Amino acid sequence: MEILAIANQKGGVGKTTTAVNLAASLAGRRKKVLLIDLDPQGNATSGTGLEKRALELTIADVLLDGIDLKDAIYPSPAGFDVVGANRDLSGIDITLMGKSDSHLLLSNAMQNIGDYDYVIIDCAPSLNLLTINAMVATQGVIIPMQCEYYALEGLADLSQTIDRLKELNPELHIRGVLRTLFDSRNTLANDVSAELESHFGDLMFKTIIPRNVRLAEAPAHGMPVLDYEKSSKGAQAYRKLATEIIKQSRQLSQ
Ligand SMILES: Nc1ncnc2c1ncn2[C@@H]1O[C@H](COP(=O)(O)OP(=O)(O)OP(=O)(O)O)[C@@H](O)[C@H]1O
Ligand SMILES: [Mg+2]
Repeated sequence: MEILAIANQKGGVGKTTTAVNLAASLAGRRKKVLLIDLDPQGNATSGTGLEKRALELTIADVLLDGIDLKDAIYPSPAGFDVVGANRDLSGIDITLMGKSDSHLLLSNAMQNIGDYDYVIIDCAPSLNLLTINAMVATQGVIIPMQCEYYALEGLADLSQTIDRLKELNPELHIRGVLRTLFDSRNTLANDVSAELESHFGDLMFKTIIPRNVRLAEAPAHGMPVLDYEKSSKGAQAYRKLATEIIKQSRQLSQ
């Protein structure tokens, strides 16, 4: 089993779009996938076709009340399992702050989740306690980035956080930086992309996710883009990303 957290404290860079569509693409390759939504916005939950407000148990019940994570797993219409989130998760930082082991809650809850090939965790745009929990529970971190002027700002904070948390989680590493919302006609985007390549080298995913309107439309229908329009550029890109990640997984396990 591999655990991958999708994180970047910058908002709107395509974390949730990546979490949902990567999960769907991996499931399309017959991998058994669990998506955990760790954002009170619950966008990943609704993006898979689940009704976030109607869920009986969410990740908030797991983290706050110690409910068994297995009991909060729901099969989604998107073809993979989901532990959902909604507004019940907001404020959890403050509730848990000061409690010992508050950073270990997710990791502890994930001890006996069953035989998944991939667990994908969608983080909120913040470096709060929830995101720290994800970093402690995960192995790899996928960092979606938009190729714009301020792209590199904030990345230093994220890298530093990852370095610091290696003490708690020696397995923690950046699995890859993913260029998202990419517009190849934009000169600045190309410049920033080249800068990212020289900065991160092999840590850059070769797959680039283009700006594609189908990716933006699909969540309104509660579907991954693979179900909404499987021949779209967005769907093609996320299938390619899944292939790249499966290949990496094979290399890592050798
Ligand atoms: N490649 C893309 N092409 C077009 N639209 C996209 C693409 N990726 C994401 N979007 C749209 O951009 C917006 C932000 O994307 P998304 O919600 O995935 O980002 P996020 O990083 O999860 O945001 P937040 O920080 O609020 O959690 C959404 O409306 C989404 O549909
Ligand atoms: Mg999001």
